Amino acid sequence: MNSKAIITSALPYANGEIHLGHVASTYLPADVTTRFLRQKGVEVYYICASDDFGTPILIQSEKEGKTPEEYVEYWNKRDFEDFTAFNIKFDFFYKTSSLENIQFVQDVFKKLEHAGHIYENEIIQLYCNTDKKFLPDRYVIGTCPYCKANDQYSDLCEKCGRVPEEIENPHCSICGQIPVKEKTKHYFFRLKNFSAKLTKYLESNQNLQKDVKKYVQNWIKEGLTDWDITRDISWGVPVPVDGEKEKVFYGWFDNHLAYISSTIKFLNDNGKDGKKFWNEADIYHFIGKDIVYHHFLFLPAMRLGIDEEYKLPDYIPTRGHLTLESKKISKSRNWYIGLKDFLKIFPSDYLRFYLVSINPYSQDDLNFNWDEFATKINSELIGNLGNLVNRVLGFTVKSFNSIVPDPEKFDDMDKESEKMIHELASQLSVLMEENHLDRALKKIFQFSAHFNQYFQHKEPWKNGAGTNSCIFLAVNAVRSLAIAIYPFLPESSQKIWVQLGLDGDVSTEMFDEISSITLKQGHKLGQVSPLFEKVEESVIEEQKSKLGGTS
Ligand code: 2FM
Ligand code: ZN
Repeated sequence: MNSKAIITSALPYANGEIHLGHVASTYLPADVTTRFLRQKGVEVYYICASDDFGTPILIQSEKEGKTPEEYVEYWNKRDFEDFTAFNIKFDFFYKTSSLENIQFVQDVFKKLEHAGHIYENEIIQLYCNTDKKFLPDRYVIGTCPYCKANDQYSDLCEKCGRVPEEIENPHCSICGQIPVKEKTKHYFFRLKNFSAKLTKYLESNQNLQKDVKKYVQNWIKEGLTDWDITRDISWGVPVPVDGEKEKVFYGWFDNHLAYISSTIKFLNDNGKDGKKFWNEADIYHFIGKDIVYHHFLFLPAMRLGIDEEYKLPDYIPTRGHLTLESKKISKSRNWYIGLKDFLKIFPSDYLRFYLVSINPYSQDDLNFNWDEFATKINSELIGNLGNLVNRVLGFTVKSFNSIVPDPEKFDDMDKESEKMIHELASQLSVLMEENHLDRALKKIFQFSAHFNQYFQHKEPWKNGAGTNSCIFLAVNAVRSLAIAIYPFLPESSQKIWVQLGLDGDVSTEMFDEISSITLKQGHKLGQVSPLFEKVEESVIEEQKSKLGGTS
């Protein structure tokens, strides 16, 4: 395992609140992975930023009568607060509109131009005579030329995931008029030049998910098209060419460069050589499947275009979309749950537990279902883990005066349980390293279920032979669980730690500590109380009734 890592997750547009769909596919898996790698002793940093530029943000700020700067400033702060409430712990949360990023993007452009990867071309662009402006990207809605889906933005078809070369039946998204065609000069990135190098990169990187790789390889086989990287709008990174006014870079040209510019700033500010670190580290970009095209093609091609001055991604963990009660999430139809609102009602660990447990390492969509949420929390989180912790620690407090007893000679069942503790760390490690976070969580809960059965079977309340061994092993198993659940459920993990009577912060425990039997005879537990509160059906019904109505 590399001793250094940089983790990023898709940068949220500074254009609206974070909802459950965002956190399920990218932020939560990235946060869990960061916490895990840190437990493994990796020097890892989780870097993110708000994605500030682009047409939709300009349109929205205009609608709200704000400057785009004011508008993105608000969302940058708000997003960060919401992430923090959910225990998504970035080492640094910056913004694509930072001075550092603007300079970095301009610098990359000059290098690409110098290397011959940029050309100018006069293009015909849609222009709205009513609104008196060019209509890039989201300013135009129409039919996707590939899959024929209607009502798609001209820069991304949400149905098939492709970037249309030319949208059909275009309409102005501001006024609905059919736009006219006007000439304008744009800059293009020679994406076509990179087909061979991209193919090589994809083939040689064994960490990328095979199915994603396959469809990206097919896109390359079908032929890439050069990429229009500028826009005639006022909000973006200015094109650094003399005489170019009112021309900025397309948001997807600058945003992923903020992965690098934000990381370098953070590391340099912390006394490290940021660039050196980037090139030595494993680079992870966590994304949702809607932005595969950008991360598997544009992003690596641009890094290849500047001679890999900054390392290409080692991992691009890609996950599916979250649906809500089996329907597409939609803010306008109020089929939607904001993160902030959710956390007003339930603890963050409830949502973390549920979302990880339903989220495989694949492109399959996952579904948020209120009833399933309640069942999983009540029967698994509380019925299994909460029950074990409370039962074992509560019994030790009551019957052993909070003191871990001296074990007797182990019988077969004790030995089997001891072995499970010894094997848990390596079993989990394999799954976590492969990004199978859901399976790792499941394994932890199987371990907890085993100890519930063990405790039940040993009947320590009868105080017969073997009671001491049972309590000794069960208390140590609770300690193992506290460390094992830390990446997933950091708040509950620390609560268990304190109840075990252990000092300090559980986050500083090394991962392998999961498998050591550390609590010896004589150790005194802390105060014990229930970890979780049951999810009541009435609360769930109330939440369900909010969906789809007027907000
Ligand atoms: O699709 C999105 O939400 C974009 N804001 C993601 C940007 S990730 C980029 F920076 F690479
Ligand atoms: Zn118009």
